[in-house]
Amino acid sequence: MSRCFAMLKPGVVNRRLVGEVIERLEKKGSKIIGLKMVHPTREIAEAHYAEHKDKPFFGELVDYLVSGPVVAMVLQADDCVVITRKLVGKTKPAEAEPGTIRGDYCVHTARNIIHASDSDESAAREIALWFKDEEIFDWKDCEDGWY
Ligand code: PPS
Repeated sequence: MSRCFAMLKPGVVNRRLVGEVIERLEKKGSKIIGLKMVHPTREIAEAHYAEHKDKPFFGELVDYLVSGPVVAMVLQADDCVVITRKLVGKTKPAEAEPGTIRGDYCVHTARNIIHASDSDESAAREIALWFKDEEIFDWKDCEDGWY
């Protein structure tokens, strides 16, 4: 089992798409083991995107994240990062295939509606940044083996 951090950005909340996007992730079969709404501080947003701090779009990326509440979650499944990234689709909406979340719901890279960890290492770092241990629930899965 591995874990992936995913975050629905302020645009999803404003556009009333929270349920629809979570449904896609959940129906695949990943276990939601952490879920919360949070209005990010600039400090956490900058820490989250620290590896991109020298990119020209860093300021815009952080501004967008702190512009309203986000929905942060921890997903768990076999190969969870790979599975989640496939559902999310490529970063640039023009390259994201229809049927993926980014392919279906966004047209501007700078208004990307969802973030998902790009490796197990990033997932561990991001989960630790956004969630306390007691906010994660590795609940008993009665459906285990059916997905
Ligand atoms: S990814 O998905 O992390 O592999 O994508 P990457 O290309 O490394 O991009 C890292 C994050 O930067 C965002 N991004 C941009 N924002 C604004 N303008 C431009 N041009 C731009 N290019 C990339 C991209 O959406 C990634 O953030 P998240 O939160 O993962 O969507």
